Amino acid sequence: MVAVPARVVHCFASQACAPVLARHRIDYCCKGQRPLADVCHDLGLDLRGVVSDLETAIQRRAQTAVQATDLRSLTTRALIVKIIAPHHQYLHRTMPFLQTLAAKVGRVHGDREPSLREVARRVDQLVETLRVHLAEEESVLFPALLEDRSANVEAMLRAMRHEHEQVGEMLWQLRTAAANYVAPDWGCNSYRTLMKELSVLEADTLEHVHIENHVLLPRYVPTA
Ligand SMILES: [Fe+2]
Ligand SMILES: [Fe+2]
Repeated sequence: MVAVPARVVHCFASQACAPVLARHRIDYCCKGQRPLADVCHDLGLDLRGVVSDLETAIQRRAQTAVQATDLRSLTTRALIVKIIAPHHQYLHRTMPFLQTLAAKVGRVHGDREPSLREVARRVDQLVETLRVHLAEEESVLFPALLEDRSANVEAMLRAMRHEHEQVGEMLWQLRTAAANYVAPDWGCNSYRTLMKELSVLEADTLEHVHIENHVLLPRYVPTA
């Protein structure tokens, strides 16, 4: 009998599991509360294989666990630093580059592969949504959490989670339009770079949203 985690746990193990879940196209951020067995069934994945991959990743991570940080043990201030420093700054750096690159690839190769124009359009939509979202978190939500202005914090966090669901849906649609980020044989370096960078953006955003939904939010919304 395979031991199946009922949900993605919020410790160093989840940091080890994130790449495995992303590789299997399992949404562990917005839909991270669902039993793994149900998710595998819906996606047509072999549950035992996924669990085996997760166990291997956790074992590898455990061997270097001395350096690993359990995000739940951090203060809220330190947790917010862990969100902004790698994830928000990564997006601020990457989004303009991706918009330019997606527009170029769509313009150059759109006649041969029309879906690339849709990719460029969806990248624009995602970037505009994320820009507003990041600005709200950095200028309104995170300062409110740090100043313990609790009156509206719960409502703001629920709104944050709702926006995460929208971002998760946009990422899924983008992946679909981009053929799972696999460039064809004839794809040029720009095409390949775009697919690779979109894949990285997806993985980073899933981890980012996971931390906000499952480590930060439950501190203020206990039933989340
Ligand atoms: Fe964020
Ligand atoms: Fe967020």
